[in-house]
Amino acid sequence: MHAPLLAPSILAGDHANLGASAAIVGQLGLTWIHLDIMDGHFVPNFSFGPQTVAALRKNSKLFFDVHLMLDEPHRYVEAFAKAGANLISIHVEPAYDHAATLARIRALGCKNGIVLNPGTPAEAITPFLAHVDLVLVMTVQPGFGGQSFRQDMLPKITQIDRWRQERSLDFRLEVDGGVDLKTAAECRQAGADTFVAGTSFFAAQDRSAFAAAMAKL
Ligand code: DX5
Ligand code: ZN
Repeated sequence: MHAPLLAPSILAGDHANLGASAAIVGQLGLTWIHLDIMDGHFVPNFSFGPQTVAALRKNSKLFFDVHLMLDEPHRYVEAFAKAGANLISIHVEPAYDHAATLARIRALGCKNGIVLNPGTPAEAITPFLAHVDLVLVMTVQPGFGGQSFRQDMLPKITQIDRWRQERSLDFRLEVDGGVDLKTAAECRQAGADTFVAGTSFFAAQDRSAFAAAMAKL
């Protein structure tokens, strides 16, 4: 079982000074940061693109966990790899060659991940389980930070963790959306090991205590 890992989402950071938000994460001794990329099509919102990721990369040694919420992720994986992504995750819902894109991400020197929306059954990703470094279970409908955690996603996490054990696979199992200390504990119980936290992290009174509690899940 992987040790619990907190990946703060910079979506909840200061968009006029994302470098400072990334620095907050690094100064706490955390190793991952989650970067949400939105195209206004796959999700009804925009965030930022490869140019911003590259600018952040210049001043950060953090592991960049890049979550592509794009209709055509295959067109952009190279740009994000060049910008300094360490892991690139792509959604299973749009129609494109998922297997080829996952392989391409690895060929570019990054770890890869497959993502499922709340309405997508776990079965949709079974063909890819042996070929990914991370599975990301969305625990809100993607597009916006600050939404409520979907309790009904817990059985999906349990199912994917069960497949991981049965098949002796070792991908990370990440959750994203409405994750705070309470819901992260529930996800950990269900088998998740990697916890994206936007609002709960950046709004925490004591981020250091928040990170320490996450590390003990
Ligand atoms: C939602 C994004 C999340 C978002 C989570 O579309 O994928 O990564 O930043 O934000 P919180 O933690 O506020 O729900
Ligand atoms: Zn995300």
